[in-house]
Amino acid sequence: MLKIGRKQNLDALHQLGGLHCISQAMFTAFTLKIFDHISDRQKTLQEINQQLHYHAESLDRLLALLASLKVIKKNGRFYKHYKHLQQYLVSTSPNYIGDIYALYDEGRKKWSTLSDLVKTGIKEEPLPSKNPEKETEFFQKAMRSKNVFFAANVVKKIVLESPSTLLELCVGPTSYTVHFLKNNPDLTVKALDLPTTIPISKKLFDEALREEPEAESITKRAQFIASNIFEYDFPPSDVEAVFYGDALHIWDTEENQKIFNNIFTTLKQGGKVYIYDFFMNDKGTAPLSSLLFHNHMNLFTNNGKVYSFKEVKKMLVKAGFSAIKCQRTEKTDHTLIEACKKGK
Ligand SMILES: C[S@@+](CC[C@H](N)C(=O)[O-])C[C@H]1O[C@@H](n2cnc3c(N)ncnc32)[C@H](O)[C@@H]1O
Repeated sequence: MLKIGRKQNLDALHQLGGLHCISQAMFTAFTLKIFDHISDRQKTLQEINQQLHYHAESLDRLLALLASLKVIKKNGRFYKHYKHLQQYLVSTSPNYIGDIYALYDEGRKKWSTLSDLVKTGIKEEPLPSKNPEKETEFFQKAMRSKNVFFAANVVKKIVLESPSTLLELCVGPTSYTVHFLKNNPDLTVKALDLPTTIPISKKLFDEALREEPEAESITKRAQFIASNIFEYDFPPSDVEAVFYGDALHIWDTEENQKIFNNIFTTLKQGGKVYIYDFFMNDKGTAPLSSLLFHNHMNLFTNNGKVYSFKEVKKMLVKAGFSAIKCQRTEKTDHTLIEACKKGK
């Protein structure tokens, strides 16, 4: 049996070669909206295919594979959703994760160029986007869908002063923003992202609050800043906390050092920065998801990487931070790093 990231035997070594088939089965199920036609009551293949009109034999084979992966349940001739998974698979659900699968699916093309990158180290400039707005929305929806795994858990771990102001850098789809504001009734969030992203951030923020009875009071406590992080004039001693989530990995050490120096400046005395991301152990050997993402960043960015704890600590200390703590978050390979501005 294959154990991902554990000591393998010959049989497992064989299986590693076929793992892409599993991803492909999931991409297909999401792309063809198959999960939307399965329900919490038992359905036969014919019932599932009633509106889809796909090739019955091929659909049946795919459904059986998904059932053997325990993504859906098969009972004789019948299929149904598992209660605990349905909300993540059906496209009308607020917890739908299909958008992050769509991004992984897009990423496949780039991953197929890994051999060229390893041979030559040459990174080709991405072609100018034909529809940048649509691409930004596609990416931010994928980030929102990724955050179904992360945001609520992480925000619960962060205890903020009341009242206080938090600056959220590279806010993207505002998944964390919404949780911060809901959990802390006296909190104001300043949410920064690129001028091209902020309109999408605002749209997804409003969408997240559509069913929320407190939407008006929550919205009043959110301020959006449309700026490149490297051009933003961080006001000195302005906020009690800064959240920097899933963005550290985009930039090199010099760029991140600039960001950490600016975060130090903008925090009030006693204020804290929270960095949430993939991290590597100091030997560079684990966890597996960080090593995968380290390669992913090599493919997709000029200088992006997954940092080790030691590297991040070094940058934070250089910026003036102390009392640095790391907290692994449950169920994910991400880590939350916290550091305090106690004075240089
Ligand atoms: C990987 S996403 C993470 C988004 C969000 N923090 C989350 O976890 O869902 C990185 C974010 O950084 C933003 N970003 C990239 N370059 C930036 C820059 N130079 N200045 C400000 N934001 C930037 C992107 O627009 C994107 O929203």
